[in-house]
Amino acid sequence: MKILILLFACFNVNFSYNFLIFSPLFGHSHTTFFAKIADTLSEAGHNVTFFTPTIIRKFSKINYVKHTKHVIHLEPSEKLERYGNQMEDVDISRFWTDDSSMAEMFPMIKLFNEMFAEQAFVLGQNLDVLDELKEMKFDVMIFERFAECAYPLLEYLEIETFIPSSSLLFDPNLLISIGEPRIPSTVPLPMSKFTDKMTMTERLLNAIAVPIFHSLLPTHEFKSFRPPYQAIDIQKMEHLSSFILSNSNPYIDYPRPTLEKNVQIGGISVDVENLKIHKVNEEWDRILDMRQKTILVSFGSVMLSKDMPVENKKILAKTMKQFPEVTFIWKYEFNDTDLFASETENIHFSSWVPQTALLADRRLTAFFTHAGLGSVNEVSYLGKPSIMCPIFADQMRNAKMLARHNGSIEISKYDLGNGEKIEKTLRTILFDDSYRLSAEKLAHQLANQPVKPKELLLRHAEFAAQFGRLPSLDPYSRQLSFVEYFLIDVAAILIFSSLLIVVVLFQIIKRLINFLPVTVDSRKVKTN
Ligand SMILES: *[C@@H]1O[C@H](CO)[C@@H](O)[C@H](O)[C@H]1NC(C)=O
Ligand SMILES: *[C@@H]1O[C@H](CO)[C@@H](O)[C@H](O)[C@H]1NC(C)=O
Repeated sequence: MKILILLFACFNVNFSYNFLIFSPLFGHSHTTFFAKIADTLSEAGHNVTFFTPTIIRKFSKINYVKHTKHVIHLEPSEKLERYGNQMEDVDISRFWTDDSSMAEMFPMIKLFNEMFAEQAFVLGQNLDVLDELKEMKFDVMIFERFAECAYPLLEYLEIETFIPSSSLLFDPNLLISIGEPRIPSTVPLPMSKFTDKMTMTERLLNAIAVPIFHSLLPTHEFKSFRPPYQAIDIQKMEHLSSFILSNSNPYIDYPRPTLEKNVQIGGISVDVENLKIHKVNEEWDRILDMRQKTILVSFGSVMLSKDMPVENKKILAKTMKQFPEVTFIWKYEFNDTDLFASETENIHFSSWVPQTALLADRRLTAFFTHAGLGSVNEVSYLGKPSIMCPIFADQMRNAKMLARHNGSIEISKYDLGNGEKIEKTLRTILFDDSYRLSAEKLAHQLANQPVKPKELLLRHAEFAAQFGRLPSLDPYSRQLSFVEYFLIDVAAILIFSSLLIVVVLFQIIKRLINFLPVTVDSRKVKTN
C-alpha cells in the first residue's frame, strides 16, 4: 500500500498538463510577459503551446520563447495589419513635451478594441487552425484579458479552465468581474499619476475613471465562431476563471486587499540567478571598466531617446560632462549624437544595450530610466539605485510605487531641460549611499520573497489544471448590488432608527417637562 501511495505521489509530481498560452503580437512587453509564462511552464515539464497571431509584423521576427517548442503563428488580414501599423504610427514622441493624462489613453484603448475585434474575425476565418488546436484538448488556457478576442477562441476550443491575465499591475475590469474589493480612495489605477495618498480631487478622478471609460468606449460584441453564432458575454464568463495572473508584486506595489484568486507574479521575467552567472561580453566589459562609476540611461524601446527635444539632449550631455569620473551608457537610436554631444567623452551611445546583464553587473552604479513596468521590476530585483523619469501611460504610477522604497529619485520630464536639477539628482544618486542601500535591501527582500513568482505561477497553473474551475473561490460579494455591498441600506436603517429614537426621546422629555411643574404646583398646594 505504502509503495502504491509513493508511486502515485511520483506519478503526480511528474504529471504533465496541456497548456495553451494565447498572446496576439501587438506589443513587445505584453508578449514578453506571456512568453515567460509559457517558458516557466515548459521548463517545469508541461506541454505548452504558444499561440501568437501576428498583428505588428516586425515583432513576428523576434523569438519570444526559449523553452517552449510548440509555437503557432497566424497571418493577419490586411485590415488587422493596418490596425497594427496604425498602432505603431500613434505619435507617442509628443509625450516628451506633452502632458499625459488618463484621457490621453482613450484613443489608444479604442484602437485596441477595434484591433481585437478584427483579430477575432481573423481567428473565425481560420477554423482549420483552431480545429487542430481543439484536438489537443488543453487543460488550461492563459491569455491577456484585454485582448478580448481570446473569449470566442476559448469558447470554440471548448476549454473549461482558463486564467485571464494582465501584463500590467492589474486590469480594473478583470478585478470587477471576479469581485475583488476595489478601494479607489487608496489604490491608484495603473494609468494614473497618483500614489496611495490622494487629495480629494485625485480620489474623485481615481473613482470615476473606470466607469467613465466604460460608458464612453463603444463595446464590441464578440460572437461564437460556430452556428448559431451566439453572442459571448465576457463579463458573465470571467468569474468562472480559476485564477487571474497580474504583473504586480505585493512587495513592490502599495499594499491592498486582494482575493486568493488574484495571483501576483510581478518579477517573473527577471531571471536573477541566470543573470548573475552570465557575464556581459568583452565589449561591455571594457566599457564598464573605463571609469570608477557607470550609469545606464535608457528610456525603453517605445519612447525613443532620439525623439527627445534637442535642447534637452544638449543639457543632458552637458550635465553628464560635469561627471568625468562616470561613464554614461545611453541607449540612443540614431547617429546624430554629434549635434549635442560632440565634445563629451564619457558618454557611450548604443542603439541596443543588454539592460538586464548591465543591471546585474556589480560595476554598474545606477540606472536612469523611464519607469516602464519591465524596467521597474528589473531594477527592483537587481538592486540598483535609480532615477525615474516617467514619460507616459503607467510610468508615472510605476515611478511613485518604486520611490516609496527609498532607492530611487523621481525627476519630472519637464525638468530634462533643467541642468541644475539634473546635476543635483545625478550627484545624489551617485554619492548618497542611502539610495544604494535601500535598493539593495529591496532586492534582498525580493530574493527571499516567501513564495517566488515562478513558484506562484507553477503551483496555481497546476492546481487549475488539476481541479478545473474553482467556484469556492468566487466571492458572493460579486453578486451584491452597490447598495448592499456598501451597506447603504443598513446605514439608512441605522440612521432612520437613531432619528426615531431621538424623536421619541424628545417627545417623552417634552411630556415630562409639561408634567413636572404641575406636580410641583400640586405639592405646593398640598403643603399650603
Ligand atoms: C503534447 O503536445 C503535443 C503536440 O504539441 C501532443 O502531440 C502530445 O500528445 C502532447 N502530450 C501530452 C502528454 O499531452
Ligand atoms: C523610506 O523613508 C521614509 C522616511 O525616512 C521611511 O519612513 C520609510 O519607512 C522608508 N521606506 C522604506 C520602504 O524603507
